[in-house]
Amino acid sequence: MEKIVSGIRPTGNLHLGNYFGAVKNFLRLQEEHNCYFFIADYHSLTTHPTPGDLTESVKNVLVEYLACGLDPEKATIYLQSDVQEVAELYLLLNMNAYMGELQRVASFKEKARKQPQNINAGLLTYPVLMAADILLHHASKVPVGQDQQQHLEMTRTFARRFNNMYKVDYFPEPEAYNFGDNLIKVPGLDGSGKMGKSETGNNAIFLSEDLKKTRKKIMRAVTDAGPTQKNQEKPEVIQNLFKLMSIVSSKDTVEYFDEQYNECKIRYGDMKKQLAEDVIRFVEPIKQNIDELHKNEEYLNKVFEQGAERAKENAGKTIRQVREIIGFKNKF
Ligand code: TYM
Repeated sequence: MEKIVSGIRPTGNLHLGNYFGAVKNFLRLQEEHNCYFFIADYHSLTTHPTPGDLTESVKNVLVEYLACGLDPEKATIYLQSDVQEVAELYLLLNMNAYMGELQRVASFKEKARKQPQNINAGLLTYPVLMAADILLHHASKVPVGQDQQQHLEMTRTFARRFNNMYKVDYFPEPEAYNFGDNLIKVPGLDGSGKMGKSETGNNAIFLSEDLKKTRKKIMRAVTDAGPTQKNQEKPEVIQNLFKLMSIVSSKDTVEYFDEQYNECKIRYGDMKKQLAEDVIRFVEPIKQNIDELHKNEEYLNKVFEQGAERAKENAGKTIRQVREIIGFKNKF
């Protein structure tokens, strides 16, 4: 039985990118491994320093985790800030994390570009906190989307460095994981790249949103004027629409529209209508669960209490061992 760790930041509701990049794998892994799935509320402060109602955002993600089928009896589901041991491991790992390597991380450069007024140290050391999340539980596999690949490389670097510096074989070097396949990037609806929480929210399909809104957003997804030559290569916006369809629709459906494209007969309106049907069929039962779970706060609190207890037990052991390895002494 392997140890698995992964988390999602509570900076908005879960969308199909989160689901197909991460949560879908959580569901498979919880059946046979020792899994720790958490909500990364500390991490969210790097971009949202005054988050407003953080408790509500955390509740939404917990509800959505459970609505998708994460099972607290099979996996340990917890809130990052309930397990403060992670903050100590983060501190200790920071001592051996170097400015140069942190400044080169693509996500840091991107965030620094996006929020020039708030290039905080937490943003710079984001991969160190992430490594602490993972190493705290000695995870060997980390189910994530493609955008987290570089962070996992950093985690391996920090694990290796710790082992070398203190001459131990203590931390495993975990890998980003997607059942033997490449990590995935779910495209968004604006044609420009990955699905994510945009300012307008029109780039992402959220699990909790009104289904009429979902349909409307999909019908408005960016396309082009259509193919002019048979079998021509698809431009990126169209490739993205097909990619999205290949994630939620059947193979036959994708093949049908692919053929229509190649024959220059495609009507994007029909394609989007079909895509909306297939997305809604997938999202509808999850959405029903979300509505039910929101009412059951007692249960939600119990999930976090039980999760924190289990996660802390493991985390406490790691911290005691790490202190000992580095050379902290409680008594002379
Ligand atoms: P976050 O909150 O941005 O995203 C959560 C998960 O969803 C995946 N994801 C996607 N996958 C495919 N296509 C997309 N369009 C897409 N959008 C999001 C992300 O890859 C991620 O797996 N740093 C992490 C949170 C974190 C973490 C960790 C993850 C903190 N500590 C330890 C794993 C292990 C993040 O910001 O994810």
